[in-house]
Amino acid sequence: MRDNVIIFDHPLIQHKISLIRSKDCGTREFRTVAGEISMLMGYEVMRDLETELVEIETPLEKMKGPMLKGKKLAIVPILRAGLGMVDGMLSLVPSAKVGHVGMYRDEETLEPKEYYCKLPEDISQRLVIIVDPMLATGGSADAAVDFVKKQGAEQIKFVSILAAPEGVERLAQAHPDISIYCGAVDRELNEHGYILPGLGDAGDRIFGTK
Ligand code: PRP
Ligand code: URA
Repeated sequence: MRDNVIIFDHPLIQHKISLIRSKDCGTREFRTVAGEISMLMGYEVMRDLETELVEIETPLEKMKGPMLKGKKLAIVPILRAGLGMVDGMLSLVPSAKVGHVGMYRDEETLEPKEYYCKLPEDISQRLVIIVDPMLATGGSADAAVDFVKKQGAEQIKFVSILAAPEGVERLAQAHPDISIYCGAVDRELNEHGYILPGLGDAGDRIFGTK
């Protein structure tokens, strides 16, 4: 695996991914557990945020304590399934801004189609965390990273719950400057571009559609 690809090996993340893979996991549980996975992933993804010492007065005395400094954050879900990861991330950094990249995969060509994009104005000064539960062919992720880069973003991380080897390779090759985080890398894609064994269509499972 390339240097810029990080696979989470935390037992809680692995356990929760197995829960949502099951076809018997209903919409409500899927949404809840996908949110929990996102929060656990966010904790690791934000591990290298910079801190600075700030003066604090405890009830007993003054001290200097570390607080987050410098680059602010933007969470950017790829619509629609990426929305299922936003609240988990925001529970860690409630004041982060949220951008949206609207993209769906054409079922015939598997190419991403852009339909709505809006990012915070000062995106170039933020650490951008793009979230999408599925990294399949990598087309959507590749296009989303291209888009945020065109808007000026310089520090970018991409976070997915499940990935296919093909998608990881495509994204890592197209964007060697970003960090790619995956909960698990599965075996392969099927002829319709679905991840095997996977978890099915993440958007449908989060929103209860078919
Ligand atoms: C899914 C998923 C990714 C994309 C991954 O979205 O959430 O965005 O497919 O596939 P790729 O790596 O081959 O591009 P989909 O297009 O089904 O849209 P949805 O989120 O609206 O369901
Ligand atoms: N998008 C999904 O939601 N699931 C897959 O397996 C592949 C792409």
